[in-house]
Amino acid sequence: EEAERTQRIEAALEELGDEVVILGHNYQRREIVEHADFVGDSYQLSVEAAESDAEYVIFGGVTFMAESADIITDDDQTVILPSMEASCPMAGMAEALQVDAAWAEITAAAPDSDIIPITYMNSYADLKAFCASQGGLVCTSSNAHRAFEWAFDRGDKVLFLPDKHLGENTAHRLGMEDRVATWDPWDPEGKDPEAVAEADIICWDGYCQVHERFRVEHIEKVREENPDTKVIVHPECRREVVEAADKAGSTADICRTVEEADPGDTWAIGTEIHLTRHLQRWHPDVEVLPLCGDACMDCNAMRQIDPNYLTWVLEELVAGRERNVIEVAPEEKELAKVALERMLEV
Ligand code: 13P
Ligand code: SF4
Repeated sequence: EEAERTQRIEAALEELGDEVVILGHNYQRREIVEHADFVGDSYQLSVEAAESDAEYVIFGGVTFMAESADIITDDDQTVILPSMEASCPMAGMAEALQVDAAWAEITAAAPDSDIIPITYMNSYADLKAFCASQGGLVCTSSNAHRAFEWAFDRGDKVLFLPDKHLGENTAHRLGMEDRVATWDPWDPEGKDPEAVAEADIICWDGYCQVHERFRVEHIEKVREENPDTKVIVHPECRREVVEAADKAGSTADICRTVEEADPGDTWAIGTEIHLTRHLQRWHPDVEVLPLCGDACMDCNAMRQIDPNYLTWVLEELVAGRERNVIEVAPEEKELAKVALERMLEV
């Protein structure tokens, strides 16, 4: 079945030629990554999308990534997401309307402060637009610390959305771990105006359901089994997990770490399982282990991009039909682009 599907994908790609580029996030399954022209982390993919002049950008990733590609590409380029079900649950934890309401409460709690909102790339276009409208920007896990520095050059507090763990880990990296408050929009007790007035960094109480499941005990266990094992985790993991690991970094940093390892080294990887499997395949000289053993650390949003859907959108393009087009509303696009361009500048 896979051989037949591969043949169909290759035939469609040959027919479409330069018209199409396929971008694949590091968490995509092997059958998608193998067909991608470029595989990378969400920052690298946004740069690739900005630089590409293909008429169609097929995005192996989740909705917020495809939206960002649509924002950053030219108007005559079309972004296609093979499945419309591929939505990151963390992005859904900070709805623009909900943030707008919280913004009024947060700014009222610190009336003499200039608060700069920063949203993680893992958010929808309307939230990116909101951040730009309030003087803020977007960041990814590879440049969050630089985005915070940019914001502190312009204001005196940061509201970081939606991932509290990346917010806390970035605060720690900047030596500001004692200056953090959390804003939980779902819990009346979690919205403390006094804490906001006191803090320099206010983290929205969102999280990634994959990375939040890693625990310090997982690190202790791999080290117990082999004391030479080094551990690298994604900064969406809890603060104590990042603290216990040897290293933390974006998916591109994780790839680089394994690439640069010496033959025979052992690295345990605390991130989505598909990347760990790719690294096991790509670097057979290095022992690459999933940090959680057999526990199923996969992202059900990323998993929605089934290779059969990739085949379908490509064959439909050959037949002259555009399926699953991701198009950000024009009124949000312009401002969201400002937020993304500020990130690309820092
Ligand atoms: P990266 O920016 O490190 O690729 O991470 C994206 C993501 O969704 C992590 O959960
Ligand atoms: Fe969203 Fe987590 Fe999946 Fe990344 S791994 S797309 S943050 S749910």
